[in-house]
Amino acid sequence: MIAPIVRTLAELRDITGTWRSRDETIGVVPTMGALHQGHLSLARAARDKCDRVIVTIFVNPMQFNDPDDLKNYPRTEDDDARKLESIGVDLIYVPAPDQIYPDGFATTVSVSGLTNMLCGEARPGHFDGVATVVSKLFLQTAADFAFFGEKDYQQLQIVRRMAADLNIPIEVIGCPTIREEDGLAMSSRNLLLSDRSRVYAPILAEVMEDLRAQLNTGAAMSEVGADARARILAAGFNGIDYLEMRDGDDLSLLDRAKPDARLFAAAWLAGVRLIDNIAI
Ligand code: PAJ
Repeated sequence: MIAPIVRTLAELRDITGTWRSRDETIGVVPTMGALHQGHLSLARAARDKCDRVIVTIFVNPMQFNDPDDLKNYPRTEDDDARKLESIGVDLIYVPAPDQIYPDGFATTVSVSGLTNMLCGEARPGHFDGVATVVSKLFLQTAADFAFFGEKDYQQLQIVRRMAADLNIPIEVIGCPTIREEDGLAMSSRNLLLSDRSRVYAPILAEVMEDLRAQLNTGAAMSEVGADARARILAAGFNGIDYLEMRDGDDLSLLDRAKPDARLFAAAWLAGVRLIDNIAI
């Protein structure tokens, strides 16, 4: 059965209120739609852990710093609903824009520190938009558990910090990155790659794997990073926003591997920005 699609906060609260009155636990999976196996793995993790599962679909204008990126973002609601059918989610929340940003909306949730590097540096304001919408989705759904992908590892850490700092009673659960067979991390943006670009896209993950092997044998980023960047550019990528090793907890910059280190990359391929990260 296709889960009911709810578009207003009033209707959402009505349904979740009934669930709460029966002491049922609620899991939420926030998404911007164009669902792929990565998103579906989060919905499955929620299905396994919670009595009730809500998937939210909202292309959040506040987190887009590029109007063209917002305009071109894929929107595939009917397909998304069909994909969620097989998992048996209980409700799909697709809020109308005024349910998130009513007239006069004036509040921004801004997490400092974790946001001023990596994607935060490359996309000013992006994580304020994420933290604001995610805090609203947490409060609107009143979920007990929230499921986020490690694919967007910085986002996951920021959301954890935000929920803890604001005392939102929700447990944030990180789930592993799902990849295509050739290693490319699944992403809604992969739909925007031309056939030709799609052939080169997995090279980013491939170079990261090789770099991980070098870092694991004691090499320093300052010694091996430049070659890796050159390989990515030689493969046809047009630019690299970052290729860095950082602590997986506080995201501080590292030159040599240590437990909990992660490798982070963002690179442009024919107008499409791809990001990836792996544990070292
Ligand atoms: P979106 O890019 O649609 O991603 C929704 C969730 O799916 C995020 O938690 C993301 O990390 C996860 N995800 C994406 N690709 C994945 C993959 N290959 N494997 C595992 N998980 C993956 O991230 C957002 O939307 C937005 O910023 C949002 C949190 C919804 C706020 O607007």
